[in-house]
Amino acid sequence: MVAFKELVFSGVQPTGNLHLGNYLGAIKRFVEMQARPAQCLYCVVDLHAITLWQDPEALRGQIREVTAAFLAAGIDPRTSIVFNQSQVPQHAELAWIFNCVARLGWLNRMTQFKDKAGKDRENASVGLYDYPVLMAADILAYRATHVPVGEDQKQHLELTRDIAQKFNTDFGSSIAAHGHGEAFFPVTEPLIGGPAARVMSLRDGSKKMSKSDASDNSRINLTDDADLIAQKVRKAKTDPDALPSETEGLKGRPEADNLVGIFAALSETTREAVLAEYGGAQFSAFKGALVDLAVEKLAPINAEMKRLTADPGHIDAVLADGAARAEAIAAPTLDAVKDIVGFVRRGPRLAAV
Ligand code: TRP
Repeated sequence: MVAFKELVFSGVQPTGNLHLGNYLGAIKRFVEMQARPAQCLYCVVDLHAITLWQDPEALRGQIREVTAAFLAAGIDPRTSIVFNQSQVPQHAELAWIFNCVARLGWLNRMTQFKDKAGKDRENASVGLYDYPVLMAADILAYRATHVPVGEDQKQHLELTRDIAQKFNTDFGSSIAAHGHGEAFFPVTEPLIGGPAARVMSLRDGSKKMSKSDASDNSRINLTDDADLIAQKVRKAKTDPDALPSETEGLKGRPEADNLVGIFAALSETTREAVLAEYGGAQFSAFKGALVDLAVEKLAPINAEMKRLTADPGHIDAVLADGAARAEAIAAPTLDAVKDIVGFVRRGPRLAAV
């Protein structure tokens, strides 16, 4: 096995309303990854966003808003690299090469495409179908070893691993001939987990919390202020029983399980620890504690996002700086890939006559 330097990559789509699920399942974990001795790259994946039509003005605002959320949550743009995908051309370029590595049969198995395309598959964009290949390119343009993602991205990470392995075997002798040993791409590890890997709707514990749910009460948006957060937690669906004292007792109680999971993630502990404290309590009491906790953790992020989005010039400067640093890593990867695949790369220009 070849040892690759640890590098962390992840992405968030700028497609509107960031909510508690995006925060606990992704952004909060990105912040925690910064404690590792690895370069972290956090990307606003605008190329992915347009696989479904986006209003151009709204898209621009959403790219800045996701960036603001990253910064407000505690991602440090000096040590981590914060950027938007479309500013680094290597993502799209590598995606094309991976289009020629990935197989139709692999993409046909992707459940997210089936969900998003719905019944009218013929009318889905080609980009929506190809989405997972671009995602593999995002990750492998940096030869990232670790990718923190939510549970729903597991299948896309498996595809990324398949593409890396197929590239490594298809081009094995060329990889060796160009001095890269036996493998050019790492087999990336997904980092999925924590108490809130899947945050569910506050109105229906069997559905994921989603920006597209018709009911705004089903989710806590990162732009909600303290009053709205309190109101939504108090209205959250529950069952009539008291909280159990062990996680076993959460089985078959999806709403209770979800609220306990959210509490655990926000307070950086486990479901077990939360139930050790609140087992036997009625939901009214538990919700009171959850309101206090959610407001304590989310209100400062909300305030900082407001402050940051008021100054788009600063956000754009962070993105430009991040893009330059990202490209400095991705460009040499693409040069090497072109050599491995057998392309003739641009040499010195002809002297002027
Ligand atoms: N598909 C991811 C999501 O919807 C976003 C994403 C795009 C991503 N490229 C990525 C996540 C690369 C991790 C790594 O959540």
